[in-house]
Amino acid sequence: VDIVPRMAESKSISDKLVGIFFEDINYGADGGLYAELIQNRDFEYAPSDRGNDKNWNSTKAWSSSAGSIVIKNDNPVHENNPNYVALDAERNAVTLTNEGYDGISLKKGDRYRFSFMARSPKAVAVTVALVDKAGKVLSSAKVKVSSSEWTTYKAELKPSRTVSDASLAITVPAGSSLDADMISLFPTKTFKGRENGLRKDLAQTLADLKPRFVRFPGGCVAHGDGVDNIYDWKGSIGPLESRKPLRNLWGYHQTRGLGYHEYFLFCEDIDAEPLPVLAAGVPCQNSGTAAHHSHEAITTLGQQCGIPMEEMDAYVQDVLDLIEYANGDVTTEWGAKRAAAGHPEPFDLKYIGIGNEDMITEVFEPRFRMIYDAVTSRYPDVTVIGTVGPFYEGADYDRGWELARELDIPMVDEHYYVSPGWLIHNNNYYDDYPRGGTQVYLGEYASHLPGRPNNMETALSMALYLTGVERNGDVVAMTSYAPLLAKKDHTQWTPDLIYFDNDKVRLTTDYYVQHMYGNNAGTVFVPSEVKIDNVEADVVNRIGVSIVEDKEAGDYIVKLVNMLPVEADVNLDLTPLGLLSSRKVKGSMLTGDPKSDNVMPVDVSMTLPSVKLPAYSFTVLRVSK
Ligand code: AHR
Repeated sequence: VDIVPRMAESKSISDKLVGIFFEDINYGADGGLYAELIQNRDFEYAPSDRGNDKNWNSTKAWSSSAGSIVIKNDNPVHENNPNYVALDAERNAVTLTNEGYDGISLKKGDRYRFSFMARSPKAVAVTVALVDKAGKVLSSAKVKVSSSEWTTYKAELKPSRTVSDASLAITVPAGSSLDADMISLFPTKTFKGRENGLRKDLAQTLADLKPRFVRFPGGCVAHGDGVDNIYDWKGSIGPLESRKPLRNLWGYHQTRGLGYHEYFLFCEDIDAEPLPVLAAGVPCQNSGTAAHHSHEAITTLGQQCGIPMEEMDAYVQDVLDLIEYANGDVTTEWGAKRAAAGHPEPFDLKYIGIGNEDMITEVFEPRFRMIYDAVTSRYPDVTVIGTVGPFYEGADYDRGWELARELDIPMVDEHYYVSPGWLIHNNNYYDDYPRGGTQVYLGEYASHLPGRPNNMETALSMALYLTGVERNGDVVAMTSYAPLLAKKDHTQWTPDLIYFDNDKVRLTTDYYVQHMYGNNAGTVFVPSEVKIDNVEADVVNRIGVSIVEDKEAGDYIVKLVNMLPVEADVNLDLTPLGLLSSRKVKGSMLTGDPKSDNVMPVDVSMTLPSVKLPAYSFTVLRVSK
């Protein structure tokens, strides 16, 4: 393979090409990235969260030495959080225990912040303890509840041993009674040490990708599976007890402790642009049913529904208020709320997504237009990202593009979950997309095999496809693999980029591809002439080349993908870039059996112009100028 860059044809490409898509799917937020260790802390789980499963109720994850658990809702901590537990220990002491999410994982020596809201008719000293499976106490503290009004009490616990299946036990002594809610336990070691923060290892894993943006809160979660399930961002901010818990259409409960404010903070912490995606006034596929992934529902539309037109003005105002929350100064109504949450400085929101792979129908269109017109006229500097619908057979992708061009929408969100073969054979997918108008945000994509594992084959097919995306980085402005996170035993979708349990994080080969692209991004693409001895299409299609310039670092970055079953000998002539023909370079390489799912990148060094690309490999080389 002979590769010669054509310097004269270089072009600027997006500096936001690789980002992340965060959705609370597969326990991505509660029980996942959100570091809260207590499950159902708010006693708001309901059977309707999970297909009317009666065991999924307000006592889920809790048990009591008294046998039954009494849940009340008169005079609650907040109207949005009606349920609380009433502990009656007048005759005998009562211990209330929470099992966490598949147990509570604790590390010896680390500190944990316990807090709860409680009230009691008379002062009572409650014992709070971390206990292991055998009932042995690992740490305990006394908390004196002294008010008959709801008050927050705190304690710090420091376990004496590392265990992965502890529980939290709260004991109320005999002769007293207590109401409690918002029972919470956080490690003090969260990402960046934030209270109400994120799990450090998982958040760091995301930060390591060097994502240029974070899309949140979904996916389907953003638009819900019915009008009443649309993710109302206002219900996800403010004091935790005032947030509106929401049924998660993936079959569980969203506390929304990880809400809009925390998403903005995370973006700030990792220096990524926030990209909130809001419903376009319609739920998933404009449908009132939960059939959000049935192709039949998508192609036949079922019963169409959206927010009633007479309520759309209020919904549009909610969207505008979000931008004010993010960017308004502290004298504005919503900017003041951001300041009250501890962040007087604006979050500098530049992008907002409206709609998530919705069918473009007569229900969608007028609602989208209303939101689009209002946002663009009130906030012309905010880039609105529209949607062109789902990428399923029978879905009308074209209508989305027609609408985008008619309204001159700056960017639209495309989604596709496809086979490695599709990615190999559609490397030129964006080559003929018109330039100068609407750009593409490839907001969800992944390579799927039958049975849907991810392995070297899926990873390499994406590495190959992304060479084409970089080549088209003047029309494709952003990309994000989906879904991002999946918790062991709580996975509704496969494959995912990162798997985890309470203790460990497992990175996939797909992750390493994202990592290699995210950490080796450029802002200028340098086309190359690629000559391959064997000109059969299937051979040519399996070699990918992309050269970008990282102006800040003063490097050229060469990405080379070989999806052939044989080694490829490359002659990489970088003299057109003004570089010496022979020089030592360093980089990283991912290579292994296509079926393997545990390959990691290794460091490589070589002397140009000769590069050997092993069979089934992805190589990134950094060449300093
Ligand atoms: O990524 C999983 C789901 O796939 C998203 O929630 C949805 O937008 C898409 O259909």
